[in-house]
Amino acid sequence: MKKSLSILVVGILLFSGAWLRAAEEEKAVEEYDEDTYGPLAPIIWEKPVRSVVFEHKNHTQGAGLECDSCHDELFPMEAGASAENEDFTMETLYNGGYCGACHDGETAFASNKRCTACHIGVRGQARLSGSADAVEGHGTK
Ligand code: HEC
Ligand code: HEC
Ligand code: HEC
Repeated sequence: MKKSLSILVVGILLFSGAWLRAAEEEKAVEEYDEDTYGPLAPIIWEKPVRSVVFEHKNHTQGAGLECDSCHDELFPMEAGASAENEDFTMETLYNGGYCGACHDGETAFASNKRCTACHIGVRGQARLSGSADAVEGHGTK
């Protein structure tokens, strides 16, 4: 009798623990509201090089930025649109365009640092940036 009672108690504890964890996880997902923070799915560009990532989550929920700090002056609200522009390059970023409007080493980490924070498909990246020809050959033409 005593034994089965303690098994029951342990069972209840385990069950409520799992239930609480599930409730917490659900809350964490619910807390990201796309109307408030922008789309949850990362935006990935494959032009001119593969693959650069942008996440609304880091910028809005994370860094507290408003939509209009990027839309529509720096970026249209259309995933992939900027990759159609000839000037979507590091040079433009270094000159304060696109991501470089903030990633200048003051508002946010500089665009010439932490390459792999933005470039997630990074193999061959050193080779690409070291050779203008290699970059050219990898372009959209
Ligand atoms: C730090 C810059 C930044 C901020 C702040 C920002 N966005 Fe964006 N957003 C982007 C970029 C970059 C893109 C992709 C544009 C491109 O590829 O040219 C984008 C694209 C989008 C898209 C299109 C997604 C798709 O799948 O086509 C929507 C919708 C959007 N943003 C909504 C928002 C909303 C709503 C907010 C404010 C809550 C917001 N954004 C704040 C940078 C930002
Ligand atoms: C309006 C300002 C603004 C623009 C535009 C902007 N960012 Fe950011 N970004 C920030 C701030 C602020 C942070 C957080 C501070 C930091 O990491 O230096 C940040 C952080 C990041 C991080 C680090 C996330 C982390 O926590 O590890 C990445 C990666 C990033 N941005 C990529 C991009 C890319 C790619 C673009 C262009 C498509 C872009 N950002 C455009 C302001 C901006
Ligand atoms: C803040 C985000 C960010 C950081 C940091 C960053 N890049 Fe980029 N990079 C981009 C974006 C956005 C593009 C254009 C989209 C694409 O090519 O997919 C790009 C494109 C490029 C390109 C192709 C276009 C060109 O300029 O020739 C090269 C090469 C490149 N990056 C190298 C680097 C290297 C090397 C570093 C580090 C020294 C670096 N990037 C750091 C965001 C970043």
